[in-house]
Amino acid sequence: MSEILILNTHPERADECAALQPLCYPTLAADEQVTPAQFIRHVHVFPLGQFMAVDRQTDRVVGTTAGFLTHYDRISPDYFRHHTFYEATGGNWLTNHNPSGNYYYGIDMCVHPDYRGQGIARKLHDARKALARRLGLKGQVLGGMLPGYAKYTHVMSVHDYAHHVQKGVIHDSTFTTQLRNGFEFRGLLQNYLKDPPTNGWSTLLEWPNPGYIETTVNRGTPKPVTQSILPRIAAWPL
Ligand SMILES: CC(C)(COP(=O)(O)OP(=O)(O)OC[C@H]1O[C@@H](n2cnc3c(N)ncnc32)[C@H](O)[C@@H]1OP(=O)(O)O)[C@@H](O)C(=O)NCCC(=O)NCCS
Repeated sequence: MSEILILNTHPERADECAALQPLCYPTLAADEQVTPAQFIRHVHVFPLGQFMAVDRQTDRVVGTTAGFLTHYDRISPDYFRHHTFYEATGGNWLTNHNPSGNYYYGIDMCVHPDYRGQGIARKLHDARKALARRLGLKGQVLGGMLPGYAKYTHVMSVHDYAHHVQKGVIHDSTFTTQLRNGFEFRGLLQNYLKDPPTNGWSTLLEWPNPGYIETTVNRGTPKPVTQSILPRIAAWPL
């Protein structure tokens, strides 16, 4: 088994990172696969949130994960139920990154086919969880692919498929891995991705950070400028 290092993505490794995309997402539309320029952009926008797995012996990039910060409201998730990957990611340019967001939105998690089943995705997930803890985030959210659904589309509804995967009756190489890494199923997203074999169906998944502590001053809460100024104004002599 190879010794794998998990590092923040280096812009100079962008070509290697992008070379994994067609190998890992062979049925995904080309404009939804991350290009070298977009990997470089991700590092500029949110360097802490980008990771790559490197085989120490060969110095080869064998896995990547990418994401940005956003606000995700569990109580009224209407937007999250109907959004698309393209909208969320700004066409993969991370234009929606919000530095004060309370959730990490994962947009990519891929491991070279020759390196699968060695726990590399788990290491990448662990890196994202460690970041979420370090930044005091409420958790992570993502739209997950359902590659295994391709061979069941004529046999069962996507709702039944997702149910069977959660029960462990069917194994989905992506969804099962996400469940094993602590993600919780929040629903299904229609036409989230341009992935014809699965009719664009994806899961909406959340990893609630178990270490998150609600405080009165949360990340993303606008500074109470008016509240601090108003009493002073009121105290002025008339
Ligand atoms: C999903 C993907 C990243 C997983 O990568 P990986 O490095 O092989 O995953 P890991 O080895 O870390 O496995 C993670 C967990 O899933 C389980 N798992 C992985 N493949 C499995 C399989 N074929 N059968 C049963 N369990 C499996 C592992 O046992 C592990 O659980 P454990 O740690 O509790 O034992 C990889 O398959 C991939 O790149 N897929 C294509 C791209 C993709 O769909 N990305 C996600 C987009 S939403």
